[in-house]
Amino acid sequence: MAWSADKTEVKSWNEWDTLRHVIVGRADDCHIPPEEPALDAKVPEDSDMRGQWGRRPQETIDRANELLNNFATMLEKRGLRVDRPHSIDHSLPATTPDFHTDSQFGCMPPRDVLLTVGREMLEATMSYRCRWFEYLNYRPLMQQYFNEDPLFRHESAPKPRLTDADYHPDYLSEKIGVEKRLQWAAEKFFVTTEEEPLFDAADVLRFGRDLVVQHGFTTNLKGIEWLRRHFPDHRVHTVNFPGDPYPIHIDATFTPLRPGLILNNPQRRLPEDQRKMFETNDWEIVDAAQPAHNAPPPLCYSSTWLSMNVLVLDPKTVCVEASEVYQMEQMDKLGMNVIPVDLRDAYAFGGGLHCCTADVYRDGDCEDYFP
Ligand code: NVA
Repeated sequence: MAWSADKTEVKSWNEWDTLRHVIVGRADDCHIPPEEPALDAKVPEDSDMRGQWGRRPQETIDRANELLNNFATMLEKRGLRVDRPHSIDHSLPATTPDFHTDSQFGCMPPRDVLLTVGREMLEATMSYRCRWFEYLNYRPLMQQYFNEDPLFRHESAPKPRLTDADYHPDYLSEKIGVEKRLQWAAEKFFVTTEEEPLFDAADVLRFGRDLVVQHGFTTNLKGIEWLRRHFPDHRVHTVNFPGDPYPIHIDATFTPLRPGLILNNPQRRLPEDQRKMFETNDWEIVDAAQPAHNAPPPLCYSSTWLSMNVLVLDPKTVCVEASEVYQMEQMDKLGMNVIPVDLRDAYAFGGGLHCCTADVYRDGDCEDYFP
């Protein structure tokens, strides 16, 4: 049955079918959290984020909200339904019997927390202490969907303990250097241990029956095994991108645009032995265009490769950040209609156009693209 704006229905099986209903994050009350093991490992040694924490400056919050609101309005004008999270107080500490941290993170970006697979939305375990309670920002929406859609499955992965046993102390020593980090990433030695299942939702890409999951800082092998057991009707594939010294979240590295076509970050190419399922099914993996910027904006966790962190609205239409001229040009050459969206001043809040959204409904069913 065709989607109707009057009826809530949760369903999304992949990253490209026509998007009808989406969550767009908010910058409200976002904080730079204090130091903690997994977060420290992600922040480059020369980053302007080092050594500072607290509520982000109000003018940056206002500017990011202006851009996120404009993005939401543009999507609504195109006929999509857009929901927004309800910000909790991120200045509050997060304390459990196992850890304490003095503040939280924010309600950006939703893609990190919520994984939609078919009729289910799954809250990820998360692997940063400051993000342990982040699901609470989305609970009003989850309750609403639960009340309005009788087939919606609201799931939450087991909350991890996040004691020191979850993190390798080696990663915390100062000035490891990028070369050492690259070597460790190639050896699959990451900051997180295999103490318990850990994953962030943004490490997972959905290809119908197949889920492709990045093993890195924020998702460990036990987390991937947990996903495998949780989705028994799916094939779950583990991928690595050894060229990334700070491997978190797959969506500035590997970007499916439509059946048969994926952009891959040329500095983080998928290793040969992991390409088989794509190649034998005639999927093309092309190098993404270079980012338009030499450096990320101030107080930003992400790399310049947010250029390829795009939101596909349907297999012919893609939202690309408006300053990413090379990425827009490449999309055009690949036959996509490009919608430029101004978002760069919101990057510091946790990412680009894919990050700042979470799917609620896309057309289409669960297809097998890799028979
Ligand atoms: N690892 C990524 C995260 C982007 C969402 C980066 O390139 O910063």
